[in-house]
Amino acid sequence: MARSAAGDPAPDAPAVELDAGALHASVTSPVLTTMTFLNEITYRYPDAVSFAPGRPYEGFFAADEIPRLVQAYIDHLRDSGKSEDEVRTALFQYGPTAGQIRELVARMLRVDEDIDVPPESVVVTVGCQEAVLLVLRALCRDPDDVVLVDNPCYVGVTGAARLLEIPVVAVPGTGTGVDLGELERTVAELTARGKRVRALYVVPDCSNPTGVSMERADREALLETARRLDLLLLEDNPYGLFSSRRLPTLKSLDERQQVVYLGSFAKSAFPGARVGYVVADQRVTGAGLLAAELAKIKSMITVNTPSVSQAVIGAMLLSGDGGLREANTVAAKHYQDMMGRIRDGLEREFPSADRTRSQVSWNRPDGGFFLSLDVPFEADDAALDVSAREFGVLWTPMRYFHLGHDGDRQIRLSCSYLTAEQVDEGITRLAAMIRHLSA
Ligand SMILES: Cc1ncc(COP(=O)(O)O)c(C=O)c1O
Repeated sequence: MARSAAGDPAPDAPAVELDAGALHASVTSPVLTTMTFLNEITYRYPDAVSFAPGRPYEGFFAADEIPRLVQAYIDHLRDSGKSEDEVRTALFQYGPTAGQIRELVARMLRVDEDIDVPPESVVVTVGCQEAVLLVLRALCRDPDDVVLVDNPCYVGVTGAARLLEIPVVAVPGTGTGVDLGELERTVAELTARGKRVRALYVVPDCSNPTGVSMERADREALLETARRLDLLLLEDNPYGLFSSRRLPTLKSLDERQQVVYLGSFAKSAFPGARVGYVVADQRVTGAGLLAAELAKIKSMITVNTPSVSQAVIGAMLLSGDGGLREANTVAAKHYQDMMGRIRDGLEREFPSADRTRSQVSWNRPDGGFFLSLDVPFEADDAALDVSAREFGVLWTPMRYFHLGHDGDRQIRLSCSYLTAEQVDEGITRLAAMIRHLSA
């Protein structure tokens, strides 16, 4: 409440009101509201069946696991020779900016992905989202710097770039990866216009939003093209453990530090921990590794990733063989079963024989959380509103992920959050909605 000079309330003074136009443009950018929307829509329609969020299945979580994991990490610190004072400091104090569990993350990468990098190249972050922000901030210096993305692209990346005022340019895809001819053409054109192309962001395994994976030969060709173009690749891999086919990550094929690898524990452990990481083993002239530069930036954003969260993830990395692939076999099978169930349900509702008439079709990802559905109407916010209110089913408009209009008649369906019964009920509702909006 406003106060007079004497300190008394001044009842007629208007409350502060900020001009939206005076705030940073990102707060009114659709790409930022999308992220919030994806997180909150599930709460807004609690009775709807939701194919919208990229959330893991909650049946895998038990609240009592958290204190057990924290205790396991404390036991590990004690067993590795830390004094009681050191154990206390490790959990209660501000921690090292680059993270406490870098060795464990480096070991996990060797076990799960054949990625062999020194712990010093790892920065443990507050989710992969912070890793994206750090990398974009570090790589882009001035307004002529641009970042390329595979189109459609995960909104966490386009949103972070918007926040940092970094221009993003989409490279057309082939349906199973980046079109390398288009990549070369785009880089040449931007360079001719005086732009510095800093990196290309890709999700080669079970991508968000389409679920598509790149073939091994395409990965090798992309690395070769990146080498020729002197282009850094930002490889984001939250879904690799959930694929039915094991393909090599770009980073495991990378022999010359061409790839910055972005990782998340949101799907392989749980998102509530908010722990991710980045591997940045590139040398920086006159300094050390790029990871050390990223840590400097992190020191001004989140200071360090919460020690308690790192303890929980650390304990998960300490059990078994040091990786998370084995621990996720049941989850991977569950997601693949749910994905199959969605496809079977769609086939029942929209049989292939009738596809020309229905104009409803979908893709067949190897796994991961998402698949892409083509529909014969504009899959926009208005359609989603009708779907939620009248049919009790949620999904994500693919247009949120596109730079351009290619995804206007597509829907992203997530298989990760639902039980088998919910999937069956959800497909029945979805089919009714599609028929209604197609009519
Ligand atoms: C491609 C991609 N990268 C990163 C993330 C999220 O990472 P985090 O929750 O660790 O910030 C997601 C989550 O949906 C994703 O789909």
